[in-house]
Formats: sequence, structure tokens, C-alpha cells
Amino acid sequence: MQEITDFRKLLDERKDDILARTQALDAEDREKELEEINCFKNDLKNNIEKYLVKFGVPKRFLNPRSHTDKLNFQKGYFFHGPVGTGKTDGAASLLKNIVLNTEPGKESGRLTIPSELALFVSVPMMLLNIRSAFKKDSIDENEIIKKYTKVKILVLDDLGTEKVSEWVMQTLYIIINARYEDEKQTIITSNYDLNEIKESLNDKIASRITAMTETIHLTGIDRRSGLSVMTMVK
Ligand SMILES: Nc1ncnc2c1ncn2[C@@H]1O[C@H](COP(=O)(O)OP(=O)(O)OP(=O)(O)O)[C@@H](O)[C@H]1O
Ligand SMILES: [Mg+2]
Repeated sequence: MQEITDFRKLLDERKDDILARTQALDAEDREKELEEINCFKNDLKNNIEKYLVKFGVPKRFLNPRSHTDKLNFQKGYFFHGPVGTGKTDGAASLLKNIVLNTEPGKESGRLTIPSELALFVSVPMMLLNIRSAFKKDSIDENEIIKKYTKVKILVLDDLGTEKVSEWVMQTLYIIINARYEDEKQTIITSNYDLNEIKESLNDKIASRITAMTETIHLTGIDRRSGLSVMTMVK
């Protein structure tokens, strides 16, 4: 009993010292962690292509030439304009900036950008993939759609190019509505403006896209052969 009392007394006397040491160790750990994060962020600039490939960005757009540094990296955008004005390039550049500004997480003890962060898909290809998955009995229909509703950032390239059927309309509605309801960041490119989408696709889809994105209107001639200009629509 006396031993326990003595030990408590000793612990009491050394409380401040123990606390100070623990705090010093915590501060050291935090400093080490910050250094590790800074190091990762510097490396990320050199490794960015690796991540963009993982997210589905096509090879041609791994080094986008558009300047999207002034955009809000938390917001959804609707890039609209005629053929070849740089919509896909703009969306890829925005995704690149978002990834460069994302705080890394730890996977198996190593810092990384989680592979579930983003998905870059062309809408016709996405619909083709969903349709072919539906045909396979082994795949749950909800599972394949979840891939597009749950991902944190979704880039839908070329909305409106697909041939519109009841099924296409319903599938796009499910994906866009789920993202709208969960307030998930969605970046869309299209040759059609929102009025045209309302007419050709569905007014419910157009209304949700209007609410969840800011429009960036691209003008000018086909960049594949000349120059175009990017302007923000208020
Ligand atoms: N800011 C830019 N500076 C230089 N080249 C650019 C720029 N933006 C796009 N380009 C180039 O212009 C070409 C067309 O761009 P992009 O494919 O993004 O156009 P788009 O609007 O998506 O066309 P489409 O409607 O056919 O899908 C690409 O080769 C791309 O690399
Ligand atoms: Mg395009």
C-alpha cells in the first residue's frame, strides 16, 4: 500500500515534466507529418500524370493547355461551346488543379491521393459500359451505377452526344440527380447549352445541372485548327 502511495506521489511530482515531454513528442510527430505531406505535394507535381491516368483522363489530355487556376476547385462547372474550343482540355485542366490541391490520405501507411477521388468519363462510353454491364446477369445494376453516383468528383465529357432514348434519359437522370442530392462535385462538358439540353434530354436534368454548376462558355474557332476564347457566364 505504502508503495502505491509513494508511486502516486512520485507521479504527481513529475506530472508537469511528463506532460511537457509528451507535448514535445506530439509536436515532433506533427512536424514530421507536415514535412512528409510537403514532400508528397512536391512529388505530386511530377507524378500528376499517373493520377490523371488512374482517374480515366485520356492520354491526349494528360498535359492540358487550358488555364483553370482561377476557378473554384470545390465547385461544379459546365463547359459549353462548339466543337474543338477546348472543353475537354478545360475539364482535364480543372481536374488536374483539383488533384494538385487535394490533401493526401494514407493507404497502407503511405501518403497517396485515393483512387476513389475522381472519375473522368465520356458520356457515350459510360452509357455503353452501363448497358453492357446490365446485360451480364452476374452484375448488380445498382453496383455499376454507384460507381458514377458515389465518386467524389465526376467529369462527364461530351453530354448530349449520345442517342437519346428513354433508357439513356433515365440513366443520366439517376446519376445526375443522385449527385445533385448529395451535393457532389460534377464537371460536365457539352456542345449543347443548357436550353438545348432541356429540349433534347430532359428539363429535370437541365435544371439540376444549372443548380450544381457554373457555366463556362468557350467561343472561337475549332482549336484543332485555330484559336478560341474562354469566358465565364454569370
Ligand atoms: N488552351 C488551349 N491552348 C492550346 N490548345 C488547346 C487549348 N485547349 C484545347 N486545345 C487543343 O485544342 C484541341 C481541341 O480541344 P478539345 O478536344 O478540348 O475541344 P472540345 O471543345 O472538347 O472539342 P469537342 O467538342 O470536339 O469535344 C485539342 O487538341 C487540345 O489539345
Ligand atoms: Mg471534347
